[in-house]
Amino acid sequence: MQLTDSDKAMLDGEEGPAVAAAMDLLVRYGRALDAERLCDVRNVAGTMTQPSPVKARLVREGGWDKAYSVINLDCDDALEIPDMRVPTCQLQQSFGPDSVGIAPYPKELIELQSDAESFYGRKGVNILATCTPYQVGNIPVRGEHVAWMESSAVVYANSVLGARTNCEGGASTGSASLTGRIPCWGNHHPENRYGTHLIEARTPVEGPLDWGMLGYFAGGLVQEERPVVTGELKQPDLLDLKHFGAAAASSGGVEIYHLPGVTPEAPTTEAAFGGAAVPEAVPYGERERRSVYEDLNSQGDCTDVDFVLLGCPHASLDQVRDTAQLLDGKRLHSGTQLWLMVPRALRTTADRNGWTEIIERAGGRVLTDSCPAMSRSAPPGTKVFATDSAKQAHYLPAILGIEAWFGTLEDCVSAAVTGRWKGDLR
Ligand code: F3S
Repeated sequence: MQLTDSDKAMLDGEEGPAVAAAMDLLVRYGRALDAERLCDVRNVAGTMTQPSPVKARLVREGGWDKAYSVINLDCDDALEIPDMRVPTCQLQQSFGPDSVGIAPYPKELIELQSDAESFYGRKGVNILATCTPYQVGNIPVRGEHVAWMESSAVVYANSVLGARTNCEGGASTGSASLTGRIPCWGNHHPENRYGTHLIEARTPVEGPLDWGMLGYFAGGLVQEERPVVTGELKQPDLLDLKHFGAAAASSGGVEIYHLPGVTPEAPTTEAAFGGAAVPEAVPYGERERRSVYEDLNSQGDCTDVDFVLLGCPHASLDQVRDTAQLLDGKRLHSGTQLWLMVPRALRTTADRNGWTEIIERAGGRVLTDSCPAMSRSAPPGTKVFATDSAKQAHYLPAILGIEAWFGTLEDCVSAAVTGRWKGDLR
């Protein structure tokens, strides 16, 4: 692999042992992938503050320097960690102080996370604490090389923003933060970003439920390849594409897709395939739509709903407002809880607009930083949950051993108020 003089200097320790360890990791990672070189990144989205029993032990042994060295640099020593070299943000983490008394999440891990925030914040990590950094001001531009983790964020960055990132991990992002470099392979190369499959929607696709189901279909079809979607698509917005990408990255491993005329690298269907022959279209019609809906509801049996989870990926302000409007003047069923996950920066606006108060007056909770899947935590005794997120319906039953219902925001709020699931595909 070709290294620049600057790369070699970092590798040789000219910027200290932590930067040398970071460069060593990137070189090993790049060589394993046959990357020819590293590329510059000035935007890293990783995970440093997430607490765990292992991290608690490392902190006891050698402080936060040791925790970063082992977890984010793959190095067993306790290296002194310098300030982040390039802008870096913390993605979603675990439940924070606002979950106390609501989510059954260990107090000692909340405290560990607060300590982590202090340490990493001083080092230059922006504690955005959301899986949707693009909703709270971290918006790379088209063509920009970045190093992001979190599958739903990666697919949004590549597809909607036209930035370039692979689905990185805790160690590669930790190393990119200290060096401003990442192996140049995969999605960093234009030729690896063109479409591989064509899907034609032959049924109207409008609103987050349908965009989520289409994404779930696309991911199941192409797995880790790159779908191009045409047909009866109503103009999507941020919310629609947030749900589409998250679902495609759950049923498959989609990291980039194209919507001709909508996403930046696909002005036309031909351009989405980079001038190669356009493959025959796979239809997505009413039959496929119903099949996806039944698949996502195949883990629901009992219609008594204990828990409603909204905001996966973390909710937009529109979703918070819509939830508040649906709950205004109502009261949750006595046996049902509702949590709405939002980025903390958006919660501030929701508070000012009065939406949080309306949701909480109804008995719901607006929580930040994490989600039930990430923190492995739901209201005690939950056996059945409902969600408007294909991603959460896909993962949470396996993580928590509970039943799942999937439907619209209206279906979910109705379940929260009545305690019963009555959703159906319309
Ligand atoms: Fe975000 Fe949790 Fe969903 S991290 S994408 S709300 S599974």
